[in-house]
Amino acid sequence: MKDYLTANKKWWNNVTPIHARSKLYDLEEFKKGKSSLVSVEQEEIGEVKGKTILHLMCHFGMDTLSWARKGAIVTGVDMSDNSIRLAKKLSREIKVPAKFKCCDIYNLPNVLNEKFDIIFTSYGVLCWLSNINKWAKIINHFLKKGGMFYIVELHPFTNILSFDFKIFYKYFKKGPYTDDSDGTYTDWSAPVKGITYEWSYTMSDVINALIKEGLKIEYVHEFPFTMYDQFPGFMEQNEKGHYVLKNKRIQIPLLFSLKASK
Ligand SMILES: C[S@@+](CC[C@H](N)C(=O)[O-])C[C@H]1O[C@@H](n2cnc3c(N)ncnc32)[C@H](O)[C@@H]1O
Repeated sequence: MKDYLTANKKWWNNVTPIHARSKLYDLEEFKKGKSSLVSVEQEEIGEVKGKTILHLMCHFGMDTLSWARKGAIVTGVDMSDNSIRLAKKLSREIKVPAKFKCCDIYNLPNVLNEKFDIIFTSYGVLCWLSNINKWAKIINHFLKKGGMFYIVELHPFTNILSFDFKIFYKYFKKGPYTDDSDGTYTDWSAPVKGITYEWSYTMSDVINALIKEGLKIEYVHEFPFTMYDQFPGFMEQNEKGHYVLKNKRIQIPLLFSLKASK
């Protein structure tokens, strides 16, 4: 069996410094106090002051620290050691307390012994999960009774589309599939090479995994906009800074959010 985790970890370690220098992440503005959270999750999650948040797959912690700036008591988890090293450095630099753990999400119950009011995860996480049911188990394990799980993510429907906006992939494909394309989503011309192993889940895969764990789905929302230039050449930014399709006759879901309670 291939060591998917090692390959993916290597890729994420390589792209972390590129992301940290990118316009998309805009670390300089973040350090001056700008939140990296966008309107969708801020409005839907609401007040977090005094609440404990577990942020799964936090990359280098900008969103984790943004929740902490709003008064939450945060723990960020990611398997990339370069990301977690940078997250800890940022926390010290901006003087915002946070805990960060470098860990494969599936190993987390072996290294973290706490329950949380809120579990949060966002934008570009599902495709890295080798087992969606095990993921839901992890969420249930770390959620307090009465707690909230919240995800905002690229809509699974967009998995069928190629970069040049053609229907190309199977909605019902399963992973792992390999991706050896050059570059990364902050800069497609960046000198990044390497193979990643990814998975694909349908909307019902995600919902049913959480239901199987006994969590109550409070809502699923679908949005006709997204937060980055997912299909370069086919998208434009609107007055709110959201990326929408240039061709207004095409109306497809680009993002979804889901809230579940325990
Ligand atoms: C697209 S990023 C996270 C999105 C975040 N919203 C952001 O933009 O910063 C995906 C993250 O998942 C992490 N990741 C991938 N597979 C993982 C795993 N098995 N366990 C923990 N973290 C993982 C990667 O290291 C990466 O930092």
